Amino acid sequence: MSKVSIAIPDGFILGAAASAWQTEGWSGKKSGQDSYLDLWYKNHRHVWHNGYGPAKATDFYHRYKEDVALMKASGLTHYRTSINWSRFFTDYELGRVDEEYAAYIDSYLDEMKRQGIEPMLCLEHYELPAYLIEKYDGWSSKKVVELFVLYAEKVFARFAGKVSRWFTFNEPVVVQTRVYLDAIRWPFEQNTGKWMQWNHHKVLATAKVVELFRRRGYDSHGSIGVILNPEVTYARSSAPHDRQAAHLYDLFYNRVFLDPMIKGEYPQELLDLLQKHDVHFDYSEQELAVIRNNTVDEVGINLYYPHRVKAPSRGWNKETPFHPAFYYEHFELPGRRMNTSRGWEIYPKIVYDMAMRIKTEYGNIPWFIAENGMGIENEGRFRDAASGEIQDDYRIEFVAEHLYWALKAREEGANCGGYMLWAFTDNVSPMNAFKNRYGLIEIDLDDNRNRHQKKSSHWFKSLSESGVLSLTLDDEDK
Ligand code: BG6
Repeated sequence: MSKVSIAIPDGFILGAAASAWQTEGWSGKKSGQDSYLDLWYKNHRHVWHNGYGPAKATDFYHRYKEDVALMKASGLTHYRTSINWSRFFTDYELGRVDEEYAAYIDSYLDEMKRQGIEPMLCLEHYELPAYLIEKYDGWSSKKVVELFVLYAEKVFARFAGKVSRWFTFNEPVVVQTRVYLDAIRWPFEQNTGKWMQWNHHKVLATAKVVELFRRRGYDSHGSIGVILNPEVTYARSSAPHDRQAAHLYDLFYNRVFLDPMIKGEYPQELLDLLQKHDVHFDYSEQELAVIRNNTVDEVGINLYYPHRVKAPSRGWNKETPFHPAFYYEHFELPGRRMNTSRGWEIYPKIVYDMAMRIKTEYGNIPWFIAENGMGIENEGRFRDAASGEIQDDYRIEFVAEHLYWALKAREEGANCGGYMLWAFTDNVSPMNAFKNRYGLIEIDLDDNRNRHQKKSSHWFKSLSESGVLSLTLDDEDK
């Protein structure tokens, strides 16, 4: 083990992220303004840990002033959240803006400006309006692509003067993978064709919003990107069958968005395999041209854990509809380092490996770590008896190690522009709710959701002020 110090370059983002639905709560929400998450919570509430969900969340809606002051106290340069599409309109088809909700966004953006924190906004972090699911089957429909572009147009018209970094989606692959591919979330419909249709329509919607952003000239003082969650995928062994499993896992879950959004094209191998397995989705040459001509300016990448796979050990049941798992099985590395609360392996070098991949395979497009973090169950057990403060040294170590690999990759020419922690405060996770705590700031559910800085908040502040990361590393990690 040895001590290492590495400089944080000027302009490097040191921020934290969250989303609208995971923080704001339902205050002020009008009837007819449910999102996909609200529907899931209302229809299948018993799976949400201790019954907590989006209804109250962290009550950011009322407490944003306090929270922005805590952003400042934690040394954040940037804060990313989303606008809640389902709450932004009172009529999604006519694009009638909910003035009360828009005024709330204006106020927290103004407050951030006052405190010198730069906002980064996503247009969707799973907040697809329930109305569009019920009427159009959500992203199955091209009408929803059109309505998303209308939404983007209205949002840019209002807030482009206050926000310069925009993103279409956060983790666009997630909802349809859990709901239509794995069928493990409400409404439990296994439908691989629908999964691919939703993927395609989100790719297309991004390209159309990019086109709009540039056509209206917002690119003269801003950028438009997307937040993706490609999982750094490692094969169990160097044997060809395991490497092929990793290659195909990457193709179905990572390149399905990385390639069209950055390079402007779906991998031909993906299209061929979907065809081979009778997975059909509706796309046209004209749509592919829109995708080709409107790739994103930058990508935010959410990185939490490595994904390890091996070749399948058993044959596929012919009666089972095609699922990419036809080609792989998950693999658990013996002796792996774990965050047992979340069940995720810890392997900080994923950051470096992703950085090098973006450099060599994706033209070194500007990117940043848009989420990385550690959710810990029963975090109260780490509270210091005298001060009452949570001593989250494990989080400090986790952040330091991941940030180290980002800075090291940058020294080797990677175009990584920053690090954002998930999350700024503890907040509501899909289904796990407040079970695993992620924040620099504790939310005390037993005491009126009062906020308290954790040890990591002070550490983040000193990191940000000093511009130097110091940590202890295993010699083989340097
Ligand atoms: C990301 C999402 O996948 O991971 C967040 O963008 C989410 O919305 C975060 O909360 C942490 O994962 P989880 O499942 O523990 O909430």
